[in-house]
Amino acid sequence: MTIIVTGGAGFIGGNFIHYYLKKHPVDRVICLDKLTYAGNLSTLKPVMDNPNFRFVKADICDRAAVERLFDEEHPDIVVNFAAESHVDRSIENPEIFLQTNIIGTEVLMDACRKYGITRYHQVSTDEVYGDLPLDRPDLFFTEQTPIHTSSPYSSSKAGADLLVLAYHRTYGLPVTISRCSNNYGPYHFPEKLIPLMIANALNDKPLPVYGEGINVRDWLYVEDHCKAIDLIIHDGRVGEVYNIGGHNEMKNIDIVKLICKELGKPESLITYVTDRKGHDMRYAIDPTKIHNELGWLPETKFADGIKKTIKWYLENREWWEEIISGEYQNYYEKMYARR
Ligand code: NAD
Ligand code: DAU
Repeated sequence: MTIIVTGGAGFIGGNFIHYYLKKHPVDRVICLDKLTYAGNLSTLKPVMDNPNFRFVKADICDRAAVERLFDEEHPDIVVNFAAESHVDRSIENPEIFLQTNIIGTEVLMDACRKYGITRYHQVSTDEVYGDLPLDRPDLFFTEQTPIHTSSPYSSSKAGADLLVLAYHRTYGLPVTISRCSNNYGPYHFPEKLIPLMIANALNDKPLPVYGEGINVRDWLYVEDHCKAIDLIIHDGRVGEVYNIGGHNEMKNIDIVKLICKELGKPESLITYVTDRKGHDMRYAIDPTKIHNELGWLPETKFADGIKKTIKWYLENREWWEEIISGEYQNYYEKMYARR
């Protein structure tokens, strides 16, 4: 079995490649990644010498490069993680989000049609459902919840999802889609809430909390997401959408306070800053379908996962210090100086 994993030099794709090569040691895994600011080859260092692994630097929007790779490798499965993934960046500059997240998906699926595959899997997000009110804890996102997006990022992901379902209906492409809640764990780029707060706290820098910090996210340890995708691509039903989440809702401010406590840093580092435009209030996944059909359940409790994550950032300082020492400084200045 040969599997192409796009966006494998990023956070979740990288964790997926590590997981997949351990779980399926005889399968061949090809990582296709453009290495944008969010892609990091050092994330793939542990597998670079594995004879069943190949890395290819290319853009999923580059039709010729994508077709060349399909011609060489004849993949059985394609899992598309490649995306522009940060909501704040999408508010600053939507265009690259439409390009990569929608056109890139189209180019990949066209290659799948041309060369034939057994499965195309789209890694989507719970953000396509919009948000839920804080005062209705009885409400959850199911696969039937209407698409109702808030940001250019989530709109681009929703556009891609619709295209994936259209390729299934119109051309019979064997697709699946997963929509997961917020992930955390090793190799998470330090522009996102949890790794940003860990890195800033370790450097005794202010911890910028948007608005009042009362927005709620439903956190899942990244390896549990990888296990769910592995189940879906092998046993999931073609044409179906699967929600992934572990009923672990937390307010942003509680996460930041917990990180301070774990690191022995004072809460006085917390700084409330201008809110994100269009900020979604609450995400909460109902994972009944994937549990009933595929037996998936999250295995890592948040209390353990956050400890493991903090330990990883303490033991792998060079990984994130290299990132925050370069171009990231300009991004940070631009995004946070005016807040
Ligand atoms: P990330 O930003 O950490 O990584 C994205 C990767 O895609 C990078 O390696 C980057 O170089 C690559 N990439 C970007 N544009 C590319 C292009 N045009 N061609 C080839 N490669 C390209 O993202 P992530 O957090 O790992 O998210 C992965 C996927 O999972 C995304 O599709 C995202 O929408 C989805 N998702 C993320 C979360 C989360 O909490 N992070 C939750 C649910 C779904
Ligand atoms: O729900 C899945 C989504 O989760 C994925 O589709 C996205 O790719 C991923 O980036 C993530 O989106 P969020 O916007 O929820 O994640 P982020 O880490 O950017 O923010 C989490 C919450 O923390 C959100 O309410 C905004 C807040 N926040 C974020 C940053 C970066 C802050 O208060 N301060 C910050 O500096």
